[in-house]
Amino acid sequence: KTIYLSEYRVPAYLVDSVDLTFELFEEGARVHSVLSVRRNPDSDAGPAPLELDGDSLKLESLALDGKTLDEGAFEDLGDRLVIPGVPETFELTVVTWIEPQNNTRLEGLYKSSGMFCTQCEAEGFRCITYFPDRPDVMSRFRTRIEAEKSAYPVLLSNGNDVDRGDLADGRHFVTWEDPFPKPCYLFALVAGDLVEKRDSFTTCSGREIDLRMYVEPRNAEKCDHAMDSLKRSMRWDEDVYGREYDLDIFMIVAVDDFNMGAMENKGLNIFNSSCVLASQETATDMAFQRIEAIVAHEYFHNWSGNRVTCRDWFQLSLKEGFTVFRDASFSADTGSPTVKRIEDVTLLRTAQFAEDAGPMSHPVRPSSYMEISNFYTLTIYEKGAEVVRMIHSLLGPDMFRKGSDLYFERHDGQAVTTDDFVRAMEDASGRDLSQFRLWYEQAGTPVLDVSDEFDASAGIYRLTIRQSIPDTPGQSNKQPQHIPFAMGLLGAQGQALPLRLRSGDTDAPLERVLELTDAEHTFEFHGLDERPVPSLLRHFSAPVRVSYPWTREQLQFLMSHDPDGFNRWDAGQRLAVDVIQGLVGNPDEDAIDSRLVDAYRQLISDSSLDQALVAKMLQLPSEAYLIELSEAADAPAIHAARERVLKRLATALRDELVACYNRNHQSGPYRVTPEQIAGRSLRNTALSWLLLINDDEGRELASQQFRAADNMTDRMGALRALVNSDYEADRERVLSEFYERFRHDPQVVEQWFSVQAASGQAGRLPQIRALLEHEAFDWKNPNKVRSVIGAFAGQNLAEFHKPDGSGYEFLAEQVCRLDDSNPQIAARLVTPLTRWRKFAPSYGEQMKAGLEKVRDKAGLSRDVYEVVHKSLAD
Ligand code: ARG
Ligand code: ZN
Repeated sequence: KTIYLSEYRVPAYLVDSVDLTFELFEEGARVHSVLSVRRNPDSDAGPAPLELDGDSLKLESLALDGKTLDEGAFEDLGDRLVIPGVPETFELTVVTWIEPQNNTRLEGLYKSSGMFCTQCEAEGFRCITYFPDRPDVMSRFRTRIEAEKSAYPVLLSNGNDVDRGDLADGRHFVTWEDPFPKPCYLFALVAGDLVEKRDSFTTCSGREIDLRMYVEPRNAEKCDHAMDSLKRSMRWDEDVYGREYDLDIFMIVAVDDFNMGAMENKGLNIFNSSCVLASQETATDMAFQRIEAIVAHEYFHNWSGNRVTCRDWFQLSLKEGFTVFRDASFSADTGSPTVKRIEDVTLLRTAQFAEDAGPMSHPVRPSSYMEISNFYTLTIYEKGAEVVRMIHSLLGPDMFRKGSDLYFERHDGQAVTTDDFVRAMEDASGRDLSQFRLWYEQAGTPVLDVSDEFDASAGIYRLTIRQSIPDTPGQSNKQPQHIPFAMGLLGAQGQALPLRLRSGDTDAPLERVLELTDAEHTFEFHGLDERPVPSLLRHFSAPVRVSYPWTREQLQFLMSHDPDGFNRWDAGQRLAVDVIQGLVGNPDEDAIDSRLVDAYRQLISDSSLDQALVAKMLQLPSEAYLIELSEAADAPAIHAARERVLKRLATALRDELVACYNRNHQSGPYRVTPEQIAGRSLRNTALSWLLLINDDEGRELASQQFRAADNMTDRMGALRALVNSDYEADRERVLSEFYERFRHDPQVVEQWFSVQAASGQAGRLPQIRALLEHEAFDWKNPNKVRSVIGAFAGQNLAEFHKPDGSGYEFLAEQVCRLDDSNPQIAARLVTPLTRWRKFAPSYGEQMKAGLEKVRDKAGLSRDVYEVVHKSLAD
């Protein structure tokens, strides 16, 4: 069944308050819910029946204004209760019985390593009790939790704890009250034996906020980084957006079994352990940065998501796109802005562009879905953030801030739409964003075809930009979009040239943001003595593909001269892509362009360059990105060509790599700063390149580093380099040493799984099957599933795309297996197969066969059904 945005109707009934009591037991939980219901004055449905959503519930009793409703007084439609003939206002009492201990979908109330926890977004609350489970019904929640005191000393819910006490039989209770009306997707409950870490934050108006983290005792030493990130997020949101925290307590809980990264429940954020817990010994630099960003993201949701929420789930990007934009700005302010931008664009161009060109392509504001869980996508999050970023660059920071102030003020306490967001930006700035709104409505990645000519006699350089948007499922003949296109021009000496749109223009800027609104524009730049080199789409000012016939000389030139760091990196990527693509399917071509070697030699050797940028520039474009750029892709051939380029580079630059390794030796204590991160990244890149060419000194350095490392970045860097080398004995040795050392830490074991599953050397199919049998593997834990099956199908591409189709068959088999226990995870895992049209027919046909096998599984979940059927549709 498909749900359409066009069928949105305001709720017929509102729930002003909810009074919940949870009786938690080992064999299940009883949920008492008392709702104050009133007819919605804004609804024209009149005295309609009351409809409540429910999923996997056992109804024990139902009463209206204290009078029990028996069987005939309501209708149970399986996924809904329908109660006809209700008065204008009334109190409804619902008692349900649920079994959290058997809940493997991890939606609603479930158990994770002995504790009770919840995940209600998007539609998990209906697995707890019957309720109008939609975000435009906002209620005040009061929650009483009762449980055995010794096993569950900590009982948490949203808001403030207002009452607690002991009960008979060793049980106790705590009552929580959240003063802010909220949709039920923001409800949360936690009960467990957890240690508490406390800190505090004083807000801009002088209020003291109690900050608390709750984790399993073995993780007590892994909270500092998240707590510190939280405090910096709170300060940043005050400074940059004027947003102050509103409750007296802010809590973070870490749970091991979690479908996603984290959840912004009001005052009680719940995190996947891997997205919040960190220590120098167990977490890599990347993990530290990711944790900081996710803690900030969830915290920022308190305003962009909770105080102002979504009217319906088609508006999901209202909160997610905006909040990703906010957390990215925070990370940019905290670390290196150029590096942050490079990381975000890499993800966007590799994965979101692929999604946008695939069978699940959808607009930032979709107009239909079958299963909303399938729409927590890169398009909603990452492209949605790019759309907000474009508004920011069109309006400028001051007007954007005026717009966000107006948005928060105008819509505080409301459930609104992306259109309301854009309107606030328009009203505050006076800008017309009507054409811009197409970014929310049209799917597909716009393509900009850029051409140029130089009129030497007139000194005029003409840039012509044509935009087109490819057809996507259900959408064709799209209208041109409003695109901010930042650019500059470089002279032969690498100097930035003034951008004169008229001759004699004085004070012309060195960078402009051109606004594209038509299908084609030509811009003229005057007063130029020579043909300039264009620097296009600086800092990736719009989520589009740019095609321009760069020569390799121009790219090499931009790599060292472009004043925009992002475009320096981008030029290097384009040059490397060009070189690698030239080798794909040419196994006899051994030489590589000396320009690439020279460019990399300069990067490695010149320590005066920004080392954080250099560390990024040294990363060759990934196989996934190369596949995304190709048609009729041959993954093993792409893998081989990329490996050949890496090996040629490593061979040519062998001495420079050793020098770079030694130069970047860190002295002094471990810190997560841009400088130190860059140093470790350079060192570990050098190491991995040396091992690719079986360099004996590299091998020695790696073994030493593996043994002596005082942090996980270096230990993992050495482990990865050795695992991916031809030194089989070393590989076995370091893998087992690593496991023995960290076997008691699930987050590290996950990294151990994925370094193998992603490796062409350690991740052959029989080895993958062996990992699934490993004592530490657990089918019920999404992180473990992702770290083996997800890493194999997503990163070990030459193995996954083995010409015999065994990788596809394997994935189809695992998806079927997971579909019964956790459909959300199964639907995510199947993604690589859905890209079958992207590959050469010999691969594509077998991928399709894998999908068909999944399609034919008995009792397929709605989640997987939607993905598979859309992928197979023509
Ligand atoms: N709102 C959460 C976040 O982005 C993600 C929740 C995802 N839930 C889901 N069922 N897919 O921070
Ligand atoms: Zn979010």
